[in-house]
Amino acid sequence: MKKYLITGCAGFIGSNFVYYMLKKYNDILLVNLDKLTYAGNLENLKGCEGDSRHIFVQGDICDKELVSSLFAQYDFDYVINFAAESHVDRSIANPEIFVQTNVMGTVNLLQRAKEAWYDTEKKSWKEGKKYLQVSTDEVYGALGAEGFFTETTPINPHSPYASSKASADHFVKAFHDTYGMPINITRCSNNYGPYQFPEKLIPLMINNVKHHKQLPVYGDGMQIRDWLYVEDHCKAIDMVANAGKIGEVYNVGGHNERPNIFIVKTIIEQLCNRLQDDGISEALIKHVEDRLGHDRRYGIDPNKIKADLGWYPETPFEVGIVKTIDWYLENEEWMNRVTSGTYQSYYAEMYKNR
Ligand code: NAD
Ligand code: DAU
Repeated sequence: MKKYLITGCAGFIGSNFVYYMLKKYNDILLVNLDKLTYAGNLENLKGCEGDSRHIFVQGDICDKELVSSLFAQYDFDYVINFAAESHVDRSIANPEIFVQTNVMGTVNLLQRAKEAWYDTEKKSWKEGKKYLQVSTDEVYGALGAEGFFTETTPINPHSPYASSKASADHFVKAFHDTYGMPINITRCSNNYGPYQFPEKLIPLMINNVKHHKQLPVYGDGMQIRDWLYVEDHCKAIDMVANAGKIGEVYNVGGHNERPNIFIVKTIIEQLCNRLQDDGISEALIKHVEDRLGHDRRYGIDPNKIKADLGWYPETPFEVGIVKTIDWYLENEEWMNRVTSGTYQSYYAEMYKNR
């Protein structure tokens, strides 16, 4: 039985990964270490309550004793690190926590994995172990109108979030280059799908449209993101964990580039048709002050993961966005709960001067 330490899996991509893995494998153990920050939500994991293949542990990836004790208890084969502060706007307002979690937390996981997996007497790594860092295309910076990010594009992050993720990637590479640690890094484009916290573009806009609230489009709305349905990202992570060549970086993306304003108008059109609600129209769009240092365009070249591992995205955007909107409409209570309380003060603060 393969045993995984998965971190940050009460959040968006991680919870989707738990469901993906439990559906695919019978003989598996997933130990899910999550601090339950504002972005972590045990409700996201309700579907696997009572499943003995998934064990939830509340805790911080920066906690040395806790992470060491988990290695001692479970003798993990894999570490897959999803845990992070993940929102660019929050990193612009408050960068320190991004260094703490994304950089220091990653280094702590690497250190604890090295202690558990490196045999100091034999001077070799135990068989079958791997550390996988879930990273982002944002470490490459921004593209102009032409070209795509490849794995050899220079690291050139702009936001504090992207800089913390880039720094973590460098540490992961350093553990491979210096100590020979078996690692992979995945760098994925923008994900969308169920359980995404509504600070991010798609769920925020769905929620605002439903409530006839203004739709805050940063700047001209012509920034481009490369959208990937979350299940396709989970599939890529599983493939890289199992078959990725040790030490390699894999970009993940599906050539689904869309300007933000297109995404917003698609959500308006979809909800207008489905809810037959006269209060829903493009008049809700408000172009607001742009994000500081806003990256203009991301676009992934996924040829390496396709050629080496046979990965390809299964969900076209037109299908994925409908599934996603369906999910948020069917899970109104989830949305109501995550947008009550501190979300209201976050929203008021983040959008007040825009
Ligand atoms: P998220 O914000 O939805 O979830 C992050 C999770 O990490 C939460 O459950 C939170 O409680 C947990 N966490 C935060 N700090 C922690 C700590 N110190 N210790 C333990 N747990 C902690 O994020 P997401 O969108 O699911 O992203 C997951 C990972 O994927 C991140 O590393 C992110 O950088 C990367 N990524 C995200 C996207 C995207 O579009 N969302 C794309 C590419 C890569
Ligand atoms: O590219 C991968 C990255 O995608 C991940 O590493 C990050 O964790 C994830 O948050 C995401 O980053 P973005 O900054 O691209 O995602 P976000 O949903 O915050 O914004 C998407 C685009 O929409 C971006 O150009 C900013 C814009 N935007 C966002 C919000 C929240 C708006 O115009 N208005 C908004 O209110």
